[in-house]
Amino acid sequence: MSAEPMIATARWTRALTRSAMQDMLELTARPGLLSMALGLPAAELFPTAGLAVALERVLAEDPRALQYEPPSERLKQHVVALMARRGVQCDASQVFITAGAQQGMNLLGRLLLDPGAAVVVEERAYPGFLQVIEPFEPRILTVPSDLQTGMDVDAVATLLAHGERPALIYAITDGHNPLGVGLSREKRARLVELSRRYGVPILEDDAYGFLTYEEAAPPMRALDAEQVYYIGSFSKLLAPALRVGWMVVPEALRHGLSAIKEATDINTATLAQRAVAAYLDSGALDEHLGLIRREYRARRDQLLRSLTAHFPAAARWSTPSAGMFVWVELAPSVDTLTLLRRAVEQHGVAFVPSAAFAVPGGPRSSHGMRLNFSNPPPARIEEGVARLAAALADR
Ligand SMILES: Cc1ncc(COP(=O)(O)O)c(C=O)c1O
Repeated sequence: MSAEPMIATARWTRALTRSAMQDMLELTARPGLLSMALGLPAAELFPTAGLAVALERVLAEDPRALQYEPPSERLKQHVVALMARRGVQCDASQVFITAGAQQGMNLLGRLLLDPGAAVVVEERAYPGFLQVIEPFEPRILTVPSDLQTGMDVDAVATLLAHGERPALIYAITDGHNPLGVGLSREKRARLVELSRRYGVPILEDDAYGFLTYEEAAPPMRALDAEQVYYIGSFSKLLAPALRVGWMVVPEALRHGLSAIKEATDINTATLAQRAVAAYLDSGALDEHLGLIRREYRARRDQLLRSLTAHFPAAARWSTPSAGMFVWVELAPSVDTLTLLRRAVEQHGVAFVPSAAFAVPGGPRSSHGMRLNFSNPPPARIEEGVARLAAALADR
């Protein structure tokens, strides 16, 4: 018998397990499977023609599009204009270009967290954020959320009033992943007020902030320029493969962020930054945003109608005003991890079970499911929900 060689990796990595999302990717790659699992935009709606023109233009104009370069000032100006559309006043000196929202979280995590730092997250959290903080072996403080108004801000107030001083509060303002809920206007104001009073910054993840289907309140960054560190992305707006995003942060953070960014990837791909800037120069964004909002809104409505038609009366779900997900809570006796296996193997349909969004040390959640509505074509959404209902009825 040959023993596995022992390789001395960092202590925090020794407890690493495969992420549930990696399992999902494999599971959903089965041919013929109707997947409502992953948070993918609809590839058929990507602005391929507009991006092709933009790419050609930037390559023809200046070979330095392929060079190591400082962040694109033109792109920063576009971000300032985009933020104004979200009701946020900022200037280019506060804009920090990243390789997507995920990198924004990572850079801020590394800047703000000491080993063992306390962090406030919701009980059902975006796993990508948990992966960011894991190396710091943080003390995670969880707060509940509800499906109508989002994070329980009273619970945050209680933690702070009892003397907790977390390094940051992680919040998704609109189109919450996985809950599909928006933080209510009142809660935005209250959370910002708490953040100011106790000097605890908010990491505001607004990855879905431009995918709004109803009138949206401005993000928390509109209420405070010092305490709220805003994270945005072109992944859902244009395409994730561009790997371009941004942060709006106080200038005082720039120096530290720049050093960590340089150590991470030197600079965000110049070609991608310039292509996005050229695409935005062309003025095509409005039409594109109109198209994806219309299309995703129709898919959301189809999903909500299908749930009403097919799901058991005991089920409850969120009605997202932004983003790509509906969260469904089934009767507590249903274990969605078991249901997933049956749904995939016998009914050819997939979703993400609530266990994938559980937080280490937080409460276990076994009867929830996240359904994606942006990726499946509208005609298949009803079929997907009917198949899920059949899998549920099979128990
Ligand atoms: C809540 C949330 N934040 C951040 C990200 C990362 O996005 P990006 O592609 O911009 O890195 C995602 C991706 O799905 C997400 O759901």
